Amino acid sequence: MRVFGMVAVLALAGCVPQQGQDSVASGRAMFMENCAACHGDDAKGDGPLAASLAKAPANLTTLAARHGGTFPRDYVMSTIDGYRRGQHFSAAMPQFGEGDLGPIVMVGNANGTTTPTPAKLLALADYLQSIQQKP
Ligand code: HEC
Repeated sequence: MRVFGMVAVLALAGCVPQQGQDSVASGRAMFMENCAACHGDDAKGDGPLAASLAKAPANLTTLAARHGGTFPRDYVMSTIDGYRRGQHFSAAMPQFGEGDLGPIVMVGNANGTTTPTPAKLLALADYLQSIQQKP
């Protein structure tokens, strides 16, 4: 029941992130606590639990490279949240949306609209965006 432990940890992982450096820093702390066991400290998919999973955790530093050079922020956030996942997505990864993802902040989109987004989810996405390998 390790999965529930991790969801609880995410819920408790303090600090309300702001967009920018603070967000990246708190996203990194949340990543180390909730994701690194599978995805690895460097997010390359080689955490200590990786070998025991039926499906390998993804390398999260190549997300932009694998999406035409643009970091797929919405895809990343809905994957972490569990809100929108492909049919064949491994059940090994917890749906963090079941925990507390922090207060809602408004995030501007490229097309001028805004989307209400949980702050911790945004911080995780900001952190992952900051560690993308250059294509
Ligand atoms: C128990 C292990 C586990 C934990 C913990 C975990 N993941 Fe995953 N994650 C996986 C696995 C396995 C996959 C690949 C699933 C698939 O492709 O079917 C994955 C896939 C992903 C993807 C999709 C990557 C892609 O290339 O499409 C993202 C984004 C992601 N994880 C982010 C996170 C974040 C952020 C956290 C922490 C909040 C986290 N994961 C915690 C196991 C885990």
